[in-house]
Amino acid sequence: MTSPAAFLACPTPDAWIDMALQQQEILLTDHANCEKKAAATALNLLFRYTFNDDLQYKMSRLAREELRHFEQVHALMKKRDIKYRPLSASRYANWLREHIRKEEPGRLVDTLIVGAFIEARSCERFEKLAPHLDEELGKFYVSLLKSEARHYRDYLALAEEAAGESIEERVEYFRQVERDAIESPDEEFRFHSGSPAAA
Ligand SMILES: [Fe+2]
Ligand SMILES: [Fe+2]
Repeated sequence: MTSPAAFLACPTPDAWIDMALQQQEILLTDHANCEKKAAATALNLLFRYTFNDDLQYKMSRLAREELRHFEQVHALMKKRDIKYRPLSASRYANWLREHIRKEEPGRLVDTLIVGAFIEARSCERFEKLAPHLDEELGKFYVSLLKSEARHYRDYLALAEEAAGESIEERVEYFRQVERDAIESPDEEFRFHSGSPAAA
């Protein structure tokens, strides 16, 4: 299976990295939110697809791991005296989810493919950010990128299993959708935001 960065159609724009380094409080707060949402997505799948034994087990493990990540980000924020404040969600996940088919089994297959892209992008961003961060945060992000690479592979394998046929065409479709979400100008900075819009 290809590496998460090679799986994506485009790298994170350098302007996004610059923005992230300037906005580390928002980065960490939104990152904490993303971990919660990753756990919620896994729980939704766990409850919706009760007939799929493999998926049930993997989603249960995933939900626990994502909540553990949330706790780790939360602890780091506390240590840095960053107060948690509500942040609106970035457009990214909904941008991808709008393209999910409505009928089963397409709905499940597409949901899992979208999960793979979100994990792959997270992994790519952790990797790209890590060398520019302070030692503590850099090390933490390197540890997380290994988990996200595994989650990306798990989601993709589950999508293949659920489809029972090649998913290459759907993957390619979402690859282009994801590229648009990352490369088009975005007014709002978030963990998964697009290319920072010129002020
Ligand atoms: Fe995570
Ligand atoms: Fe993850």
